[in-house]
Parts: sequence; structure tokens; C-alpha cells
Amino acid sequence: MIESSTRSARPGDLDAVLAFWKTAAEGTSISDDRAGVERLVARDPGALILAEQAGELVGTVIAGFDGWRCHLYRLAVHPERRRQGIGSALLAAAEERFVRLGGRRGDAMVLVRNETAHHAWRAAGYAPEEKWRRWTKPLTD
Ligand SMILES: CC(C)(COP(=O)(O)OP(=O)(O)OC[C@H]1O[C@@H](n2cnc3c(N)ncnc32)[C@H](O)[C@@H]1OP(=O)(O)O)[C@@H](O)C(=O)NCCC(=O)NCCS
Repeated sequence: MIESSTRSARPGDLDAVLAFWKTAAEGTSISDDRAGVERLVARDPGALILAEQAGELVGTVIAGFDGWRCHLYRLAVHPERRRQGIGSALLAAAEERFVRLGGRRGDAMVLVRNETAHHAWRAAGYAPEEKWRRWTKPLTD
């Protein structure tokens, strides 16, 4: 197994990250474009964490802390590199960041039908809270 390491994304990584999500992530979101990820990295440098194996991008997670909550997004590992502990390493790096910044509880939105993700989140110590439902409103056209 090739050794993997994690680091914060830099502005020069963003095109590769967007391309990576097309093959590795579950679904896409309204922020999935160059302007969206640029804004993330500009506003919260360190929030986008990458995993690499021999310099190749193999995983991502967004660990966003707004001073109040610790939100996890875009946990994704290259389809050919799964079950090697990369997802766990990304979550460990995210949690380290949260604790360093004063965060107290990690929080992730996980699709009900995404059973693989359920296994991974549970293995990392997360559990669902069935009493909540996501409420949203589009702010742009
Ligand atoms: C979810 C995902 C990020 C997990 O990444 P990963 O690098 O394969 O995870 P790890 O190797 O660190 O797995 C950690 C543990 O999670 C559990 N797990 C992970 N994938 C699993 C699977 N397919 N089936 C059962 N258990 C699984 C296991 O307990 C595993 O430990 P083990 O391999 O020692 O048994 C990866 O499957 C992925 O990118 N999926 C598509 C994107 C996605 O759905 N992301 C989540 C959005 S909420």
C-alpha cells in the first residue's frame, strides 16, 4: 500500500480538486465551480484538506469552522484507493483542525441512501440524529 499524507489545499490545486470531485465525490452541489472553491479557500484557508499518495490527489474533505459549528463536506476518496484508510486519515486531519480552532462537535450531511458513507462515518465515530431534517432556500437564481 502506498503511504498517503494530508495537507491544506492551495489556490493552484483547485482545478484538480474540481476534476477529482467529478469522479470521486457523491453528487455535486451549488458551490461546485471555480468561484465556489476559490471563495472557500480565500475565506477559510486550511478548510479544504487533500490526501495525496506520491504527489497524486487521492482524497478530499472540507473541514469548515465558522466559529460556531464544525461542518464536514466533500469527504471523497479516489474509487481505486478506497479501503486503505485514506477517508479515516482525512477525517482525523479535519477533526484535528476543528479541535485546534476550538470546535466541539463534527457535523456532516450524509445521504440516507449512501450506505458506504454510513459505514465510513460510523467507523470514525459519527452517528445520525434522526430528529433533524435539512431546511434550505436558494439565495440565487
Ligand atoms: C466514504 C469514503 C470517503 C470512505 O473512504 P475510504 O478511504 O474508503 O475509507 P477508509 O478506508 O478510511 O475506511 C474506514 C472504515 O470505514 C468503513 N468502511 C469504509 N468503506 C466501507 C465499505 N464500502 N463497506 C463497509 N465498510 C466501509 C470500514 O469500517 C473501514 O475500516 P476497514 O477498512 O478497516 O474495515 C469513500 O467510500 C468514498 O469516497 N465514497 C464516495 C463519496 C462519498 O460517498 N462520500 C461521503 C459523502 S457523505
